Amino acid sequence: MSDTIASPVAPDGLSPSALAEPTRNMKHESAVLHVTGRALYIDDLPEPKGLLHVVPGLSEKAHARIVSIDLAAVRALPGVVRVLTAQDIPGENQTSPVHANDEPLLAQDLVQHVGQPIFAVVATERAIARRAVKLARIVYEELPAILDIDSAKANGSAVVWRPLTMARGDVEPALAKAPRRLQGTLTIGGQEHFYLEGQVALAQPGEAGEMRLWSSTQHPSETQHLVASVLGLPHHLVTTEIRRMGGGFGGKESQANGCACLAALAASLTGQAAKMRLDRDDDMVITGKRHDFKVSYEVGFTDQGDILAVDMELAARCGWSADLSGPVTDRALFHADNAYFYPDVRFRSLALKTNTQSNTAFRGFGGPQGIIAAERLIEEIAHATGMDPLDVRLRNVYGTGERDVTPYHMVVEDSITDLVMTQLAERCDYRRRRQALRDFNSTSRTLRKGIALVPVKFGISFTATHYNQAGALVHVYTDGSVQVNHGGTEMGQGLHTKMVQIVRHEFALPAESVRITATTTGKVPNTSATAASSGADLNGMAVLDAVNQIKGRMVAFAAEKWQVPPEQIAFTQEGVRIGDEIVSFRDLVWQVYFARISLSASGFYKTPKISWDAATGRGRPFYYFAYGAACAEVTLDLLTGENTIDRVDILHDAGESLNPAIDIGQIEGAFVQGAGWLTTEELVWDGQGRLRTHAPSTYKIPACSDRPRIFNVTLLEDAPNREATIYRSKAVGEPPLCHGVAVLHALSDAIASLDAYRSCPSLDAPATPETLLRTIMRVQERVRRSDGASA
Ligand code: MTE
Ligand code: MOS
Repeated sequence: MSDTIASPVAPDGLSPSALAEPTRNMKHESAVLHVTGRALYIDDLPEPKGLLHVVPGLSEKAHARIVSIDLAAVRALPGVVRVLTAQDIPGENQTSPVHANDEPLLAQDLVQHVGQPIFAVVATERAIARRAVKLARIVYEELPAILDIDSAKANGSAVVWRPLTMARGDVEPALAKAPRRLQGTLTIGGQEHFYLEGQVALAQPGEAGEMRLWSSTQHPSETQHLVASVLGLPHHLVTTEIRRMGGGFGGKESQANGCACLAALAASLTGQAAKMRLDRDDDMVITGKRHDFKVSYEVGFTDQGDILAVDMELAARCGWSADLSGPVTDRALFHADNAYFYPDVRFRSLALKTNTQSNTAFRGFGGPQGIIAAERLIEEIAHATGMDPLDVRLRNVYGTGERDVTPYHMVVEDSITDLVMTQLAERCDYRRRRQALRDFNSTSRTLRKGIALVPVKFGISFTATHYNQAGALVHVYTDGSVQVNHGGTEMGQGLHTKMVQIVRHEFALPAESVRITATTTGKVPNTSATAASSGADLNGMAVLDAVNQIKGRMVAFAAEKWQVPPEQIAFTQEGVRIGDEIVSFRDLVWQVYFARISLSASGFYKTPKISWDAATGRGRPFYYFAYGAACAEVTLDLLTGENTIDRVDILHDAGESLNPAIDIGQIEGAFVQGAGWLTTEELVWDGQGRLRTHAPSTYKIPACSDRPRIFNVTLLEDAPNREATIYRSKAVGEPPLCHGVAVLHALSDAIASLDAYRSCPSLDAPATPETLLRTIMRVQERVRRSDGASA
C-alpha cells in the first residue's frame, strides 16, 4: 500500500465530503442495462458450441446409508452424455469452505439431508437431463434423522463448530443479587435467500488442463480453489469470472461452489463446455438458508429498568455440514448485546448438526438473530416495569467510562445509539403517536395498532481477521479511458458503481471515461468473499491505492516536465492543472506513455487495528460500528392475524455516504427483506425432512403490496466515520436488514394491548398470521384467567 493512504486525511482521499457532484449521486453503473434487460447474467451469455447441461440427482432421504445406486436407465436415455458420481472425481470430493472436510460434492455412502446431490446427469439438453435424473434407482438403508433444534439438543446431537463463550464479569452472582429476574425462550425462523437469479455456473475447458468458469459467486477465489481441488489441478489453471449476480444475499458466498464444481467436472470429463443452472425448486431444496435459532435467556434488572446481568444460550440449526455456521453463530453472539451495555454477561453458542440443508450466510450473518434476542430482553423489562420500551433502551445503551465495554471486551468508542434513537423519535413524533395508538386500541375491538422504535449497532469487518484484505487493478489507456477491476463482486448492491466513483473522483473524469470490468481471479487473485458488508470498505481502499500510484507517477512526470512543484498539480474537471496551465487528462496520459512510464497499477489494502481471539473471547473484531434506528407502526386484525405496516421511519448511519441514492436503496431493500423474514417468510419441513416450502407458491417473500404505506428513510447527517475508511464512509449492505426487527416489536406491541400492556406477549418469529393468532389467543387466555381470579 502506498503511503498516501496510511494517513487518515490524505490530500486526495480520505477527507469527509470528498465525493462531490457529479460523482456523488451517480446512478448504478448498470441501471440502464438492468431496466432494459440488456445486462448479461450467466444464463444470458452466448452459449459455446456443443454446450452440455448438468442436472443433479438428489437424495430422497434425510439420513441414510446408500446400499446401491443403479444408473443404467439414466445412462440409456438418448441425449445423456455422461453421468457423474463420486468415483468420477479426479481430485478431492470435498467442498467445505472452512476446510472442515465434511462436505462431499457428491454423496458416496451416506446421505445427510433430503436434496443432497448424489450424482449428476450431463446431457445435450437440459430437459433431457431433468428427465434422466428421475430414472435412477437408489436403495437406501434409513438412519435416524435429526431435523430441528429441539431434537438435536434432546439427542445430544453433534455440533458442526466449537461452541463459543463470551463472558465478562460474573453472571451467576449478579443474577442472584438482581432485584428482578426473568427468563424465557425465543424462537427465530430461518430464511430462504430467494435471489432472483438462481445458482448457475458455466465451465469451458481450455488447453493443457485449463478451466474457465463463469460462476454466479460472491467468492470467485474460493470457487476457483475448490474447482481446482475437485479437478486435482493447481490454482493457476482455473479462472473464475463474474460480471454480476442477480442477487446473492449471502446465499452465493459458499453455496455457489457446488454448481461451479459440477459444471467444471462435466466439462473436464467430456472436454466440452457445460452449464449447470438449478431449477428454483432444486435450488431451494439443495442450498442452505439463514439459520433458525432458539434462544434461552435470563436477565437481571432493577425496577427502573437498568439491566444488571444477562445469561443467554443461542442454539442454531446448522444442517448437515459446517459450511459457514461457525462464523455465523459467532456473529450472533457478537450482536446479542445489540446496542446495550450488560454489566455482567455470558453468551454461549450451540451450532447444532441436523439432517437438513447446510445453513449458510444470509445478510447479517447471524447478527440479526443476536439483535432480536437483545431486543426481546428490552421488551420483557419494559412490560415488567411498565416503562416505555424506548426508555428502557435509552437507559441501557452503551455510554462512556465503565459502560462502554462489549461482552467480547472491545470498547465501543463512539456509541451514538442514544443520539440516533432520540433524533428519530423526535422526527417521527414517536411519543405522541404511541399515545394516539393506545387511545385507538382502547376502543377498537378487532383492529389493534402497535409501534416500536428499535436501534441497531452492527460490527463491520470479517471476524476471520485474514479476510480483511483486498486488491485492485487499474489501467489507464493511451486515449485517457480507464479500466478498473477489483476483488469484489457485484450483486446489485452498487459496489461496482462506488468503485467507479472513486476512480472518477480521483482523476476528475466523466462517467463514460471509466469502465468497470467483470471480477476475475485472473486479474486480482486471492480475494475475500464480497460479504460482511465490507466490499466498498476493502476494495475501495485498494482501488484508491492503485489510482494513487498512477496519479503519483503522472504528477512526478508533469512536475519535472513543466518545472512546477507537485503541490501545484491537480486533477480537475477542466483537465489537469499544472501550475497555471490546463492540460487535458488524455494529453497528459499520452505524454506519460511516450515517456515510457507505466499507466497501470495494482492496489492493495488491509484493515488496520483489528484482532480477535476466539479461545479467550477477547479482541477488537470490528474496525467500527454502523448505527441506525427504525420506527415501525402496524395494524393487526385480531380475528385473522392479517396485518399491514402503516408507517416506517428509518434513520441510518452510512458515515459520509459514498452514494446516498444507492445507500438509501440498500436500506429500503434490507428493511423489506428483514421485515419479510420476520413476518411472511416461513420454512416448513415435514417429519421426513422434506422441505415443503420449496417454491414461491408456498414460500412468501414480500410483495409490493407488503411495503410500508409511508416509508421515510434518512441518512444520518454530519456523521463521518471516525476511522479512516474510504472517504469516511460506512458499510451499508447488511446492518439495515436489522431494522425489520421494529416490525416484529410493533406487532408484539399491538398484541400487548389485549392485557393492557401488563405482560410480554413473547411473540416468536416469523410472526405469520398463524403465529400471531396463537399468540393473541395465549394472551386472551391469560386475561380470562386473571379476570376469573380477580372476580
Ligand atoms: N443488495 C443487493 N441488491 N443484492 C444482494 O445480493 N447482498 C447483501 C448486501 N446488499 C445484496 C445486497 C449482503 S448479504 C452483503 S454482505 C452486501 O450487500 C455485500 O456487498 P457490499 O460489501 O459491497 O455491501
Ligand atoms: Mo453477506 S451475508 O455477508 O454475503
